[in-house]
Amino acid sequence: MQHSKIAGIGYYVPKNVYTNTDLSRFMETSDEWIQERTGIKERRFADRLGETTTTMGIEAAKVAIARAGITAQDVDFIIFATLSPDYYFPGCGVLLQREMKMKEIGALDIRNQCSGFVYALSVADQFIKTGMYKNILVVGSEKHSFAMDFETRSRNVSVIFGDGAGAVVLQPTQKEGQGILSTHLHSDGADAEILAMFYPGSHANKWMPEKPGYPAQELGGLFMTTEQLESGAALPYMDGPAVFKKAVVKFPEVIKEALAKNNLEAKDIDLLVPHQANLRISQYVQQLLGLRDDQVFNNIQKYGNTTAASVPIALCEAWEAGKIKEGDLVCLAAFGSGFTWASALLRW
Ligand code: ACO
Repeated sequence: MQHSKIAGIGYYVPKNVYTNTDLSRFMETSDEWIQERTGIKERRFADRLGETTTTMGIEAAKVAIARAGITAQDVDFIIFATLSPDYYFPGCGVLLQREMKMKEIGALDIRNQCSGFVYALSVADQFIKTGMYKNILVVGSEKHSFAMDFETRSRNVSVIFGDGAGAVVLQPTQKEGQGILSTHLHSDGADAEILAMFYPGSHANKWMPEKPGYPAQELGGLFMTTEQLESGAALPYMDGPAVFKKAVVKFPEVIKEALAKNNLEAKDIDLLVPHQANLRISQYVQQLLGLRDDQVFNNIQKYGNTTAASVPIALCEAWEAGKIKEGDLVCLAAFGSGFTWASALLRW
């Protein structure tokens, strides 16, 4: 059976750089606290009005498509991973299809947060293996800045996240041992509310105010009072220590699963590109797996945590820096809200 390979890769980050010290203009925090806990020095934030999750995804996609040696009209399927879509619906996939003037191809949106890109890659891999598609565009893009609260009450969340996008084009290859060797997907919803944004969503009805005579009182309705909005009910919630504890178990587990499936060991990995959740998590995982510094790529220092975009941005930067060469064994791994976690092993 044929399998898939990354034929082109690209990324885009907005030009607006916000250092930790910049954030301390808006909230009580410090460069020292942020760097010590997360490793982050700065992040990019999209233009408030000029850039969206889709427009950033398009910029990354243009590079990936050009590097794959095809045009936008050759793409035969789109998979778009994000937790910060332009609209509640429809998803970003169709917006990208429209703006890039692609054919009337299928567009699938993936809602798996930090694991979104690896999940998307796995779905694309299955379509290529069955021969259904030949040029699949896989995008991970996030504009976190639009929904974050930059007041002190949300500082444990808002100092972590940044905006950006990454994309790959997946194509079939007949070359034995090249391309995606295997992908591994997992979830455990037991702790779904530990890292979540509850609004807008059907569950939000429980927050609805008493409003006599309003039909939505019985039927539902998407509105919140100013008091509820101000209370932070519509903001992302994260129990940071609980996320940390679970991530440092599941990252190594899913990486080992991918290695075992291919009769390989950690020492065989040329480059591990983990989701850039937190530098401390990456360092812990590196230590547990006994990997050298040159076997792990991190760029969270520059971009913060860009959720579904973090793996493709890091993979692209590593490749552009010459850290990935033909024949290298590359491992992608992610963990995030849900919880969901995933890995992919590739021979470049
Ligand atoms: N600046 C200064 N002080 C802060 C900040 C901040 N930005 N954020 C929190 N604090 C304070 C808290 O108010 C608290 O103060 P208190 O002791 O007076 O009450 C103190 O620092 C400790 O707060 P904790 O939330 O316990 O901080 P912790 O040491 O756990 O660090 C962090 C928080 C960095 C979020 C950590 O828990 C962590 O890294 N968790 C992993 C979560 C993660 O990586 N999430 C990424 C997204 S999910 C994903 O991608 C998988």
